[in-house]
Amino acid sequence: MMWSIPKLQPTRALKRIAVLTSGGDAPGMNAAVRAVVRTALERGIEVFGVQKGFSGLVQGKLEPMDRSSVANILHRGGTILKTDRCDEFRQPSVRRKVAEDLRARGIEALVVIGGDGSFTGAHLLEQETGLPVIGIPGTIDNDVYGTDETIGFDTAVNTALEAIDRIRDTATSHERTFLIEVMGRSAGFIAAAVGIAGGAEIVLLADSTMPLDAICATLKSSEERGKFSSLIVVAEGDDPNRTPNLTKALNERGFQARAAILGHIQRGGSPSGHDRVLASVLGASAVDHLLAGQSNVMVGISAGAIVSVPLAKVVGTKKPMSNDYIELATVLAT
Ligand code: F6P
Repeated sequence: MMWSIPKLQPTRALKRIAVLTSGGDAPGMNAAVRAVVRTALERGIEVFGVQKGFSGLVQGKLEPMDRSSVANILHRGGTILKTDRCDEFRQPSVRRKVAEDLRARGIEALVVIGGDGSFTGAHLLEQETGLPVIGIPGTIDNDVYGTDETIGFDTAVNTALEAIDRIRDTATSHERTFLIEVMGRSAGFIAAAVGIAGGAEIVLLADSTMPLDAICATLKSSEERGKFSSLIVVAEGDDPNRTPNLTKALNERGFQARAAILGHIQRGGSPSGHDRVLASVLGASAVDHLLAGQSNVMVGISAGAIVSVPLAKVVGTKKPMSNDYIELATVLAT
């Protein structure tokens, strides 16, 4: 987790910036806010914290932050700035008004910590009004194009694994099949990582179409080899009945199946060391990229280095995941 950090030369002066967190909260968001605030203050820039994401921008809920505003938050989950998903911000007239208000307060740039949806709003704000923005990827789903990692993913995977290790005890003792649903409405990065690290026999991504017959055949072949307990990791997908329905279908086929839906337990909690370092490095880099004249970009990780990627490329592009991970989970668990 030691990424190489580019040495950037400042090309512009900034007097005042604002920072917000948006979308689903993720462990490490606080560490990112702290890094933005303290790096900016160190570079002589004032920082305003926006309450509740883009909603706070619309309602003018901004407060100046100092070094002590971010004291004692590095290890805390959630986000002290609070967060939201703001439908109003989808309207161009609202974005124009927000830019005017920010400029009236002397705010020259905006740092947005969030995922793909949040970056869409930030990208439009810059495009339409010229107000410089920079994104920091923060979501447990890891589904942001242009960065290998997002803040919160590592912690969420470890939280899910803790639960899975416990469930395995019961699965083994009762010789049962457990379906464990992890978060990821449209992505399967948590499912893939947890599947490999938790020793799952089967991993079903959000868009997996593995037929029931194939799932049953995999479980049967495990039984034939003398293994009577199995774990199936299921990404939540967009059907709330996905896991209950599959559990019912497996019971009807004669398996002893039970479901465990981990839900929002994966979103909270103290960030892992990995996420704290990632958030700190990206938060500091965001400020330095702004000072180096960059705008409408996201800072992220690629091939072991901090990079900046245009938000125009990031938003709306699906981050690819190799099917090799799913095959690997199956090979290693059998
Ligand atoms: O943070 C991302 C995510 O966890 C998705 O995996 C999930 O679909 C979504 O948030 C649910 O969030 P909420 O309950 O806040 O709408």
